[in-house]
Amino acid sequence: MSLERTADLWWKNAIIYCLDVETFYDSDGDGIGDFAGLTRCVDYLAGIGVNCIWLMPFYPSPNRDDGYDLTDHYAIDERLGTFGDFTEFMRTARDRGIRVIADLVVNHTSSDHPWFQSSRSDRNSRYRDYYVWRDEIPEDGPEGVVFPGEQEGVWTWDDAAGQYYHHRFMHHQPDLNVANAEVRDEIRKVIGFWLAQGLSGFRVDAVPFFLETEGIAEEMEIAPHDYFRNLCEFLTRRTGEAIMLGEVNVAPDQLAPFFGDEDGDELQMLFNFPGMQGLYLGLARKDAQPFVAALLSLPQAPPECQWASFVRNHDELTLDKLSDDERQEVFDAFGPEEDMQIYGRGLRRRLPPMLAGDSDRIRLVYSLMFAMPGTPTIFYGEEIGMGENLAVEGRRSVRTPMQWTDEPSAGFSTADPDQLRRPLPEGAYGPANVNVRAQRNDRDSLLTWFERVIRQRRQTPEIGWGEWKIVDTDARGLVVIRYDWQDRTLVTVHNLAAEAAKADLDVSDVEWTVARDLLGDTAIEPTGDGRLVIEVAGHGFHWLRLNKPGQRLTP
Ligand code: NOJ
Repeated sequence: MSLERTADLWWKNAIIYCLDVETFYDSDGDGIGDFAGLTRCVDYLAGIGVNCIWLMPFYPSPNRDDGYDLTDHYAIDERLGTFGDFTEFMRTARDRGIRVIADLVVNHTSSDHPWFQSSRSDRNSRYRDYYVWRDEIPEDGPEGVVFPGEQEGVWTWDDAAGQYYHHRFMHHQPDLNVANAEVRDEIRKVIGFWLAQGLSGFRVDAVPFFLETEGIAEEMEIAPHDYFRNLCEFLTRRTGEAIMLGEVNVAPDQLAPFFGDEDGDELQMLFNFPGMQGLYLGLARKDAQPFVAALLSLPQAPPECQWASFVRNHDELTLDKLSDDERQEVFDAFGPEEDMQIYGRGLRRRLPPMLAGDSDRIRLVYSLMFAMPGTPTIFYGEEIGMGENLAVEGRRSVRTPMQWTDEPSAGFSTADPDQLRRPLPEGAYGPANVNVRAQRNDRDSLLTWFERVIRQRRQTPEIGWGEWKIVDTDARGLVVIRYDWQDRTLVTVHNLAAEAAKADLDVSDVEWTVARDLLGDTAIEPTGDGRLVIEVAGHGFHWLRLNKPGQRLTP
């Protein structure tokens, strides 16, 4: 495939940036971010090299789950602006070469949704079967709750309805009934609606739960994955470039069906949850093995599909697939206090405080995120090393306002700090010490480094497109990934350990003259037998492109 043609499958090699409109930039001083504010920040995002924005839910909501509890799928939360403001944002993003995807939340609605209100209050309502009602709690259903400590079960009695309703998440988030063809039509309509507003696809919330047939199996006239395949087909029929990026945190050997068949006829993208969890265990142990094992456990992504690589997202940093002992190791290393942990399985911290602000290690982790197989996905504020505010309840500790300046309200808003949507962190990670303005003019800042690495990542299609494999080394801390794409070979080396290590790599099947570091000025010639030997500093990293005889690549 030529470099030009790769542009059609833009998600294979994009830079995704996740943000919540309400915590990004407040244009009118009410303490809540809005679309007009976000529009002003589009050039900032374009400037750092982002080419896809993922918007967290911006729909009307009572906000009991930060917008993942919708009351209207076809509108904008009025606190965030008007539809006109949304459209101006979309137009500006598109003009700067940035695609926009948004959360698609169709597993459930808010219990305040008019559909649910009608459903519960009238057995003859046309919305009655939009939800899953039962006279009794089924005995054989799954009992695991998603939010232990916050959620009591997955069935709740409703007096008005005189029945129990099913909810995978909180009791105020009743599950939609996908066995009902009208619900399926409605979901299609929602997708079609937002595509018509210019979205390039969706981050699909809670996919395995959406496809779960708990309580509705006997009524489901179409197999869940067949239904999902139809939905994905519908998406690309409406908009050829549109994608669905699925939140699917299941065991690695159960991931493949979510890509669909071997050509990939379901989700184009899946988050690499195993890689993320293996990364933290590897960091805690200063050992490459857990991360490498996680990468090797992944199914092969079909040719047009891609992993979304990430270091943290807006939820708890889940460690649910590690064993109890492994999880404890990560807790001990990065979140020993109970208040830093949540649901017994995750951390509610951002990376820099977890690494005690060690800038070499922070850069190592992000270099690895950009260099691992997949499309990097940044959570807002990561590029400046924002910290969390543990005083903010639950998972929201990492969803504090974006820190633009050193002013008391971080340049996020003209409102007083105590009027903000969420309180900012104080101290070392407060706006006085961590903000965009200061870092923009500092050539050694994390932001400047991110800009440089993103630019290089965009110029390194091998990572998004190439075939990858792990290259063996004897050094415990080294992660070495080799990519081959067309006539190119790239070898990325990351040292998770604090001690320097020697990478002595067998790449003798390639004829090469020099390996140039794309992130530095190292240039290495092959040993007599064609090996690549490099001394890697503790927490050091290199992206080495092997130049082949006669090969001319853009720098
Ligand atoms: C997954 C989202 O990431 C999370 O934030 C939300 O609470 C649940 N789905 C329920 O929508």
